[in-house]
Amino acid sequence: MKILGIETSCDETAAAVIENGTKILSNIVASSSEMHTKTGGIIPEQAARQQVLSIIPVVETALSKAKLNSSKIDTIGVTVGPGLIGSLLVGIETAKTLSLLWKKPIVPVNHLVAHIYANWLETENKPKFPALALVVSGGHTDLVLMKEHGKLNWIGGTRDDAAGEAFDKTARLLGLSYPGGPAIAAEAARYRKQNSDDKLKMFPRPMIEKDNFDWSFSGLKTAVARQISSNEEQISKEKLAAEIQEAIVDVLVKKSLRAVNKFKPKSFLLAGGVAANKRLRERFQLEIRNIDFCVPSPKLCTDNAAYIACFAHYNHSPVPWPKVTVNPQLTITGQA
Ligand code: KG4
Ligand code: ZN
Repeated sequence: MKILGIETSCDETAAAVIENGTKILSNIVASSSEMHTKTGGIIPEQAARQQVLSIIPVVETALSKAKLNSSKIDTIGVTVGPGLIGSLLVGIETAKTLSLLWKKPIVPVNHLVAHIYANWLETENKPKFPALALVVSGGHTDLVLMKEHGKLNWIGGTRDDAAGEAFDKTARLLGLSYPGGPAIAAEAARYRKQNSDDKLKMFPRPMIEKDNFDWSFSGLKTAVARQISSNEEQISKEKLAAEIQEAIVDVLVKKSLRAVNKFKPKSFLLAGGVAANKRLRERFQLEIRNIDFCVPSPKLCTDNAAYIACFAHYNHSPVPWPKVTVNPQLTITGQA
């Protein structure tokens, strides 16, 4: 089965073709993030306009790189939310049009849950159920228990900023460019290389001891802002970045481990853009024991359409063409 995935929830325009739920035949991502670097963050209307320009070339390239024409595609998977509405509509309308033209069904895809499916791509060791998944992205930080495909329980999440948002906002305070996560990670790596014995305890770890599975990251931003404005000790940018990264990683790892002890899953799955963070991967690798630890390769953690297609493969309840309509809440509905 070959699935074309389409992803346009934010500033990436992406299309991919995957085969049998795991093999990536093509995975094309066009990003307008450079444009947003200039403004220090995403301006939704500009992101949507860029999506319009990129979507057709990106879909065409995905098909040609996969050496396929449309007749060989069985299903189209498309992100229907969450995301920026203007950006989402570009992908949804494209998928609907292709569905009508090619007479192929559409599978509506939840972007966040789909992030987890990057763990099924390009690997022979498929995650085992029940699985506990931590999705850490620019907009979300969620712990999800998966009993099987399609059976998910939300265990906890952030009460304010997401982990990626914490990276992005504190990076801005340090004068680093958008997206902040990779920029902080690079500064932190430089610091850690020279100061491997520094315990990095400068910033608070909110809610770390609370008996729940929720996070809060907005206090970190305030603590960093205070430290910068009173920087009497002249602490370097590299050290501040290392401290920020360690504070975020610490709470993510400690609370996830508590959830592992409570729910006793067979595998722990890390996913979302922040899962590309080397330190976070290392810490989980060291601390998750006796169960499988799965994490996609860094390039499959950040937004792309391969995991969208993968989700569509394993949650295959397609909406048959041609009665596909998108209601104002952006769920695709329709019956044969
Ligand atoms: O999943 P994603 O690509 O898009 C959303 O769905 O939000 O995640 C983007 C987020 C951004 O906040 C970015 O700063 C963060 O992932 N990120 C990282 C790294 N690479 C991307 N955070 C920490 N370390 C990284 N290496
Ligand atoms: Zn994402």
